[in-house]
Amino acid sequence: MVAGIDDMAVYIPRLYVAASDLAKARGIDPAKLEKGLGISKMAIVDTNQDPACLAANACLKIMQKNKLSPEDIGRLYVSTESAFDESKAMNSYVIGMLEQIYGSGSFEHCGGIETKFACVSGSYALYDNTNWIRAGEAEGKYAIVVVSDIAKYDLGSSGEATQGAGAISMLLNDSPRLLAFDPKVTSTSIKDDYDFYRPFGKETPIVHGQYSNLLYFIQIRKAFEAWKKKVISSGLIEVGEDETVLDHIDYLNMHLPYSTMGKKALAYLLRHEWRCLPRWQTLIDKIGLTEPYPKDPRGTIESLLNDREFMEKDHEFTKRFTQTEEFQELYESKLASSLIASKAIGNLYTASLYLGFRSCLEFEFQNGVDLAGKRIGFGSYGSGASAMVFSGVIQPEYKAVVKDMNIETEIGTREKLSFENYEMIHENKLSLDQALLTPKKEFVLVRIETKPETRGERRYIFNE
Ligand code: COA
Repeated sequence: MVAGIDDMAVYIPRLYVAASDLAKARGIDPAKLEKGLGISKMAIVDTNQDPACLAANACLKIMQKNKLSPEDIGRLYVSTESAFDESKAMNSYVIGMLEQIYGSGSFEHCGGIETKFACVSGSYALYDNTNWIRAGEAEGKYAIVVVSDIAKYDLGSSGEATQGAGAISMLLNDSPRLLAFDPKVTSTSIKDDYDFYRPFGKETPIVHGQYSNLLYFIQIRKAFEAWKKKVISSGLIEVGEDETVLDHIDYLNMHLPYSTMGKKALAYLLRHEWRCLPRWQTLIDKIGLTEPYPKDPRGTIESLLNDREFMEKDHEFTKRFTQTEEFQELYESKLASSLIASKAIGNLYTASLYLGFRSCLEFEFQNGVDLAGKRIGFGSYGSGASAMVFSGVIQPEYKAVVKDMNIETEIGTREKLSFENYEMIHENKLSLDQALLTPKKEFVLVRIETKPETRGERRYIFNE
């Protein structure tokens, strides 16, 4: 049975920090953020916003846009790594908010949970709900998967430039207008590791930045290898002589903690895919270097990072590789459109991959590309660590959905934060009732109970 994404809606907080302001305040060259990490603006939540209300706002949008009632929804999953409760699932808060609009008890038939695995859990939620539909359990109802996060790092840390906030809701059904997932090829990899984690009670993660970059590549490639085997053995993709499976993928959407990570991941995958093909020798000639190998090719990530000579040579090799016209052509045609929104919004953790997908659809459509029948490959990564690689095909009816997509209109008028206000919000020095913006047709958090018997209960209202 066909199953996939029928529509998607984005909710991004309207406050933002300009990368140039952050660079100035931290004494960093602005070019490092703009060009090196590919960040120009980072969305920041107002004092009265939490990941649950971001998720509810994205959910309400998709329901209203598609004129859906609660009866049409069979499952509502929220995927996040910004949870604020150890037990109560975030989708229950979202249901509570939606019932303020649709009536008390209107969602009581609807199942769902909160899923967690750093930035990859939304992909697991999509996969599980797609299979719920494929299994014939949906009885004509939709599933909604909402990915919602506030990416927050310590002030002054190297991760500070890779913050952001937002939620994306995705409507799944058995006759999707946007994308049908390729069946039986979704592949995963998993490993117990500590590249990035957030112990109980800590608001910001403990991050080993360069380690996490490398682990991302390694885990994605493992899942990619498994996906490759499946697409070839199932006959979904036929790979000719001197070809790689990537030649048969029209677009690649990668997890984007910052936009240039997409380019790095593409370079990593291509180097491994092209190495055994005749085209590699042409590239080596153009690059003018032999491909470097580490002192200990079977070593750990630490041993690689400590192998300074290899790291420097490898960095130079990758730089020259990404400057070749072969790489550039592929980058521009298969990846670049997915990076545009990330530059202007920042890191959305679970939602980053799907903001990239949304960006690809919107900007390819604006460029007049006919996307119908195009295959998209997805590379999802979550620290800790797991990767998921899967694919899908854009459906003939996609234009009816994509023609109305405009990320700028969807966000609304944005307001640049003064650096002082940014730091105050970051350090939680402003209370819920000191919000900087007036909410417009959106849910906001108005109170967190403090009495022992109700401690932690959250109250939300919808502002007309
Ligand atoms: N002008 C232009 N580019 C510059 C520059 C300048 N003045 N200075 C540095 N850069 C480039 C670097 O060359 C590098 O790009 P490249 O690797 O393509 O060459 C890029 O900017 C980043 O520089 P780097 O030194 O690697 O940054 P960093 O070590 O300070 O931090 C992260 C980068 C990603 C490790 C850090 O932001 C982080 O920890 N983020 C959170 C964790 C994360 O996102 N992990 C990703 C996997 S999930």
